[in-house]
Amino acid sequence: MPIRETAGSMTPASGAAIVVWGMDVYPNVLTTAEHVARATVSQSIRKRPDASPALDCRLRSALMDGPEALDALVGAEAVDRRDGVLALLRIHDLHLAPLEDLAGSERWQHHPAIADLKWRLERTFLDSVCAYDAVRTWTLPTDPVRALRMIAQADRVPAVYQWLATRCSLRQLVRFIELEGGPDGGFDDLVAICQISLDGDAKLELARNYWDEMGRGNATQVHTELHRRLKAALGFRTLSRREQPLEALERSALGSLLATNRALQLEMLGALGLIELQAGPRCRRVSAGLRRVAAPLDSLPFYDEHTAADPIHGKHWLERAIAPLGVRRDASAKIIEGARWRSTLNARFLERAALLVGGPARFDADSSAQTPAG
Ligand SMILES: [Fe+2]
Ligand SMILES: [Fe+2]
Repeated sequence: MPIRETAGSMTPASGAAIVVWGMDVYPNVLTTAEHVARATVSQSIRKRPDASPALDCRLRSALMDGPEALDALVGAEAVDRRDGVLALLRIHDLHLAPLEDLAGSERWQHHPAIADLKWRLERTFLDSVCAYDAVRTWTLPTDPVRALRMIAQADRVPAVYQWLATRCSLRQLVRFIELEGGPDGGFDDLVAICQISLDGDAKLELARNYWDEMGRGNATQVHTELHRRLKAALGFRTLSRREQPLEALERSALGSLLATNRALQLEMLGALGLIELQAGPRCRRVSAGLRRVAAPLDSLPFYDEHTAADPIHGKHWLERAIAPLGVRRDASAKIIEGARWRSTLNARFLERAALLVGGPARFDADSSAQTPAG
């Protein structure tokens, strides 16, 4: 699930697309030309005075200008919800983005002004997520394995995926995939961070999951490589953050929030587990859509791989990671809450994406779409 927009910190305000990193897109797929373009953009931004009052723009400039400019951001507020999420993603980039995207700004990762902003923006963001989630009125068991199965089943295959499989045009399908950025983009790094300090079966299961992300040692099967082939075959771009709807930014921010806060490790286990539980049947619909519209062969392996692997990943994540951890005191509620957060933000994103591509906006579960996942 994915965390940054190019050089997060260095992205041109005009929205020139270079790369989105994070929860929901595959990051490690830049071409040499894109790297060159990004470096050029970084230099031009450095020289351009930024009069925008938006916090994200002020932060971008301050990360280039250094300590005095950063100090001036202590107590600064976002102008609106979108600005706050953009600024938060830019801060998360300092923790998670490739160094070549950051042009040296990573040195401010733990600057007190950045810590102040991160703390406040994350509180605001989590308040929003909890408010969205509260509307959904879950009735869930306290056992996290059973709860995650119920959450996954509640919206296992939203109507938009059935529409992708059976009715949309090639153009609509490509547009959706461009917005979606893959079912678990950035998942490899998230799994790697999530396993820190675990032990026993949980640690082994996350290691196996990570190894599958790495194509089980076969470079051509690494999931980021499969996504690169998908992107090249369909000819779509990686959208800049400024081109993405708020709902996509929020979905990304949840991943990077969980990845940069040790206190949320259990919530992260729940959120990642839910991604695995739901990805298989959703990817199967996208695969069917790609075949229906006779998409290029190279576009197929990415969704085919997740169709086959993720039901198994979901089942094993529950049995081998969630079940042993869920018996610890206070762990269950946190695991379940993380899964709810992911479910809620993903539902909001899919509703918005469906609207943008001309698909069914209703977020209906398809009860015929059950798979062995979980
Ligand atoms: Fe994957
Ligand atoms: Fe997976």
